Amino acid sequence: MEVKMGIEILGICLVLIIYLCWRVFFRPFNLFRDFGDLGFESVSKTGNDIYKRNAINEMRKRRKNGKLPPSYPNGWFAILESESLKAGETKEIYALGQNLVAWRGRRSGVTYVADAYCPHLGAHLGVGGEVKGDCIQCPFHGWEFDGEKEGKLTRIPYAEKVPGFAQIKLWPVTETNGFIFVWFHSEGSGPSWNLDPIPEIVEGKWSYRGRSEMRVACHIQEIPENGADLGHLNVLHCDSAWSGDDPKSSWISRNLIQHVWHGTWEPNVNRSHEAIMKLTHLIKLFNRFSCLHINVDVRQIGPGIVILHFDTYFGQGVFVQTVTPIEPLLQTVTHRFYSGGWIIQPVANMILDAESKQISRDIRIWNRKCFLDKPILIREEQTIKLFRRWFSQFYYENSNSDNGRTNYFKKG
Ligand code: FES
Ligand SMILES: [Fe+2]
Repeated sequence: MEVKMGIEILGICLVLIIYLCWRVFFRPFNLFRDFGDLGFESVSKTGNDIYKRNAINEMRKRRKNGKLPPSYPNGWFAILESESLKAGETKEIYALGQNLVAWRGRRSGVTYVADAYCPHLGAHLGVGGEVKGDCIQCPFHGWEFDGEKEGKLTRIPYAEKVPGFAQIKLWPVTETNGFIFVWFHSEGSGPSWNLDPIPEIVEGKWSYRGRSEMRVACHIQEIPENGADLGHLNVLHCDSAWSGDDPKSSWISRNLIQHVWHGTWEPNVNRSHEAIMKLTHLIKLFNRFSCLHINVDVRQIGPGIVILHFDTYFGQGVFVQTVTPIEPLLQTVTHRFYSGGWIIQPVANMILDAESKQISRDIRIWNRKCFLDKPILIREEQTIKLFRRWFSQFYYENSNSDNGRTNYFKKG
């Protein structure tokens, strides 16, 4: 009897250990961080949640900025990750200062995105709306708008005729590389460039390894500018990822293990909406021995997408990074990581963890910095000037800066 009980307990412990190992090492990485987690440590360690929230909001309000560019540049922006919208589902979205609804057709599997408010009496279609075929049905009086027919009203459950002019505004949508993107243009123009699928992702050659999502309190331009700001790499990112997002409070010295970066940044002369960054990344021990050499190819595509391929002797991988403005000074930054078979899940989790630590160091700066429209730049920093000229192509030329407080749109 006692032996039997002992075997049972051993069995339960074994299952528990296997489950914990799977959770720690083999489950795809998944991380969410809000802007209040980084750069607001002076208040976030004290008081209750309401006190912290109020204090952080006050700090955000007090922040000084130079003349801010428009809040929403023109381009493709990720609003959802593909797997979060199943066939027949609807989602409420708030992005680009707009209330939107997304749904995926039951028959076609196609994703549609539209303005959220029903033109009948204003119900929010993403709150209780249902998918019927490729239509979205309003929860209030059951009117149905067809995604396949440009958002036209096709049915009213209690009327024989429908007003022919009634429709909801559909947004241009494309779905690739694990994301659903909408095209935003401040004057309502259609897409002027398209997004290329990454064969390793869409053909399933590489495996999905995980994601991170961070909300950042800054202007969108600050985030891609980081790629052209080569001077910060060997300052902010030289400490090892094991030192965490705040190396100053870590016991691991940069004399022990160190990242050394060399990089170039330039606009892509063949595709004006792209810029190319080449990075070599060395991991050094004791400031002397190079133990890992990583080549990183980065493509900035429009204002809100970055594709980062890396190649090492132990395998290849790709990060897809998207930046989506939510409000004038609030961005969502999402990373999805895919790798070849040699980078197994536990290694991929380490890479994702390291990457999220490194970007958290940037976020601590972005959350609290001011935007300077006329920074002091030295000779070695010409790529920042170049970046700003390149990025300005995404702004509507007649738009006014809104100082980050109101929506600058003239239309839409
Ligand atoms: S408000 Fe949408 S059907 Fe009436
Ligand atoms: Fe950085």
